[in-house]
Amino acid sequence: MSALLIRDLAQVASPAGSGAPLRGAALREIEVTPDAYVLCQDGRIAAAGRMRDLRPLGSDVEELDGRGFSAIPGLVDCHTHACFAGDRVEEFSLRAGGASYEELHARGGGILSTVRATRAAGEDGLAAALAEHVGWMLRAGTTTFEAKSGYGLDRETELAQLRAIRAAGGAPTWLGAHPVPPEFAETGGDAYIDFLLDEVLPEAAGIAEAADVFLERGAFDTTQARRYLSACADAGLALRLHGDQFTESGAIPLAIELGARSVDHLEATGSTGIAALAASDVTGVLLPASALFLNRPMPPARALVDAGAAVALATDFNPGSAFCESLPLVCSLAATQMALAPEEALSACTVNAAHVLGRAERKGRLAPGYDADLVLVAAEDWRHVAYHLGGRVVDMVIATGKVAWSSRA
Ligand code: NIG
Ligand code: FE
Repeated sequence: MSALLIRDLAQVASPAGSGAPLRGAALREIEVTPDAYVLCQDGRIAAAGRMRDLRPLGSDVEELDGRGFSAIPGLVDCHTHACFAGDRVEEFSLRAGGASYEELHARGGGILSTVRATRAAGEDGLAAALAEHVGWMLRAGTTTFEAKSGYGLDRETELAQLRAIRAAGGAPTWLGAHPVPPEFAETGGDAYIDFLLDEVLPEAAGIAEAADVFLERGAFDTTQARRYLSACADAGLALRLHGDQFTESGAIPLAIELGARSVDHLEATGSTGIAALAASDVTGVLLPASALFLNRPMPPARALVDAGAAVALATDFNPGSAFCESLPLVCSLAATQMALAPEEALSACTVNAAHVLGRAERKGRLAPGYDADLVLVAAEDWRHVAYHLGGRVVDMVIATGKVAWSSRA
C-alpha cells in the first residue's frame, strides 16, 4: 500500500464526465475544484475534492504541499516520433535560409538522414536516445506517450524501434510505410510494401499496438496505404494515418473506410474533409507545433470542433518537422493560432488523446479509479498551462502515484 496526498491545491482541473472522445460543447467542459486535494493510492486516484471535505487519513500517507499550484491530468501525447538518433539542426538552418522540407526530402535528406542515423545507432544507442527524449517529455508534463517506428525502414531497425518504445513504457506504433527507403528506390513503393507485409509485419504485430502510414505525394498513395493498413488490421493492429499534411490526399475517406482510430496532421484539409471527419468515429489529431516549425497553415481546428469532429492535440515530436516535446506549448499554439479555448486544448491532449491510444478508461482525467498521473502547474489558475507561452509551467509530475519529476528537487 502506498498513498500520496497532494493537499491545499489552488485548483484541480479535469475534463468533466466519463465518456470519450469528447466533441462539440463537451470538449470545453472542464470541472474546476478550488481549494482542493488529490489522494493517490496504489497508483490510482482514490479520491479528489475540496479540502473541507477531506476526511482524516492514516499516518502512513505521504503529503505534498500544493499551495500556490493547480493540478491537471498527466498529459497524453498520442503522436510522436520520439525514437530517433541524431538531429537535423543542419537542415533546420537550411530551411531557415529558404530550403523547403519536401525538397530536402526529395534530395535524400530530411527523414532519410534520420533513417541513416537511427540505423547506425544500434539497439542500445537507440534506447539511450529514446530515454533522453522521454525525459524531456516527462519534464513537459507528458505521462503517457505514443511513439512510432519509421526511421529504420529495414526489418532489424524497425523492430528495434518498436521494442525500445515498448521497453520505455510508450505505446508503439509501426510506421513501416513512412518514406520508401533507398534500397527500394528502383523497385518502388509497391515492392517495399510487399517486403513490409511479408518480412516485418508478422513480428511487428506482436510488439506494436497500431500501424501508421504517410499518405502524401513523395511517400505513399491511397492504393498502397489501403493495402498496408488492411493487412495491419488483419494482424490485429489499430490504424492511424498521416494525412492531408501538404496535399489533400484521400486520407480522410480512407481512414473512415478502414475504421481507423485517427487521421493526423490535416493542415491541408478543406470543407468536404471537415464535414466527413465530423460525421465519423475517426479522431482528427492536430499537430500545430509541426505546422509552426514548417511554416505551414494551421489545421482547421475551430471548424472541426464546431462541426462536431473529435479532435486531439499532439506534439509530433521528431527531429525534422517538429523538434518540440512540449504539450503545454502545443496548448499555447492551439489557443493563440487555432482559436481553441484552453479548456478545449486540455481535453484534446488528455481524454481525447487517451482515446486515440485506447486508454481513455484509465488516462486523461483526475477522478477516482483513473491512473494517478498528474501535472502540478506552477500557477494558481490551471489555464497558465496554455497562457504562459514557452514558460516553466510544470512544477511537478506524478506518474502512477509517485513523483516522477520535480522542479523543487
Ligand atoms: O509527422 N510527415 C511525416 N513524418 C513526420 C516527420 C518526420 C521527420 O521529418 O523526420 C511528421 O511530420
Ligand atoms: Fe508525425
